[in-house]
Amino acid sequence: MPVKIHKEKIINIIDNNGTPEEKLQKICDYLKQEVRYYDWVGFYFRNGNKEELKLNCFAGEPTTHIIIPFGKGICGQVANSNENFIVQDVSQQDNYISCGWQVKSEIVIPIFIDGQNIGQIDVDSHTLNPFTEKDTELLEFVCQEVSKLNLIPIV
Ligand code: SME
Repeated sequence: MPVKIHKEKIINIIDNNGTPEEKLQKICDYLKQEVRYYDWVGFYFRNGNKEELKLNCFAGEPTTHIIIPFGKGICGQVANSNENFIVQDVSQQDNYISCGWQVKSEIVIPIFIDGQNIGQIDVDSHTLNPFTEKDTELLEFVCQEVSKLNLIPIV
């Protein structure tokens, strides 16, 4: 994967005009379109003071999982652990919320502002075992850039 090119494009989206919401949507659309095995890309943020995540924007099939309680599924576990979670085969995960039979793997990377876990990027793939350290590098970069946006109206 051409991580350098993807990073440049992400910087471009962040630096260009638009509201934070529009930029998040552009990032979802870009990643889904450009990375062959990214079949669903979305951002979840903490829902106010509640112990739950709320879906902000996404690219891919609509999901019914708009709200996810902390601790539930891959996303909810990352809300508690503050750590990256890479699942190369979702059938091996007990605490997993299915977003469709086609999804085989998932990667979730937390977003921090001043050391606080405020949300995450979630990528689903229809491919088994697709993720490498390059995905982690790219998605951690995306989260760092997103944390620079004025997200206060969103989170
Ligand atoms: N699979 C996720 C739920 C969100 S969807 O992937 C859009 C999970 O287990 O938390």
